[in-house]
Amino acid sequence: MNEIKKIPVILDGDPGHDDAIAWVLAAADPRLDIKAITTVAGNQTMAKVTYNARRIAALLKIDAPVAKGRDIPLISELMVAPQYHGESGLDGPGLPEPAQDLCPLSAVELMAKVLRESEEKVIIIATGPQTNVATLLLAHPELKEKIALISTMGGGLRNGNWTSSAEFNILVDPEAAYIEYHAGVPLMMCGLDVTEKAMIFPEEWEKIRVLGNPVAKTVAEWLDFFFIHLKQLGWEGATLHDPCSVLAITHPEIFKIIDVYVEIELGGEYTRGATIADWNHRSGKEPNCRAVVDIDREKFVELLIEMISRFGGEQA
Ligand code: RIB
Ligand code: CA
Repeated sequence: MNEIKKIPVILDGDPGHDDAIAWVLAAADPRLDIKAITTVAGNQTMAKVTYNARRIAALLKIDAPVAKGRDIPLISELMVAPQYHGESGLDGPGLPEPAQDLCPLSAVELMAKVLRESEEKVIIIATGPQTNVATLLLAHPELKEKIALISTMGGGLRNGNWTSSAEFNILVDPEAAYIEYHAGVPLMMCGLDVTEKAMIFPEEWEKIRVLGNPVAKTVAEWLDFFFIHLKQLGWEGATLHDPCSVLAITHPEIFKIIDVYVEIELGGEYTRGATIADWNHRSGKEPNCRAVVDIDREKFVELLIEMISRFGGEQA
């Protein structure tokens, strides 16, 4: 059988329940070769998201190095989201303790090392504030050519979720997003336009729980917790933002993707952090990203269940 050509990836995030589920999907796909995990402050503080990242790596038996990034945004004060993710940043099920020491390199230096040493171009899957990615692009412009794609979760072309205008990841560090969207690197934007449609309902994640393997039970319990606040806000299911950034790479056929020029609002009393689409090409500027704007939700849920079933080898 032909050897699958693996794609080297770096997972950068702020776990975070939906980051954690995104990383489950990345670990489940044999075509992805996870070279590094890097953490960024967002859903919780740097110390908490890094501890969570190391425990997720232990759960998923990911032996890639884990390195921590900046503990504050480039310019803004740090905002965290305990109402969604709890005080630990990943409240709910118990997790194994880290299986390896924290990498002594900073997130940016580990990213640069992976890019420098990889024979293939690397995909960066960035599901938190874009602080580490922006710092990498500023510190190592010579490595841009080694980036195949930055697949991000962030923004919203029609609405925000932290303010009316801005989505959380972008609002935490708008300057980082601005640097990224102006870096001239292949960029995919999974914004709220698609991620608020990437919804899974409680009766659907029961199908994950009954798979019975340790990862499936953990994912179901993460969803149990993540849905608590969403339900209080009136959502009928859990919006799985970050998993879209992985599946848009591995299963683009279930999404609608458009090429569009997007600007990041840095000023504006009410609009800072907004991602503004150049609809109808008014600016005359060439698109700077592939924006994912729609999803086949049923196929998305089927994929989630099937990919999580692949951890079935470790029946409890
Ligand atoms: O707005 C949703 C995003 O903010 C997700 O990445 C979630 O994990 C939080 O970081
Ligand atoms: Ca996240």
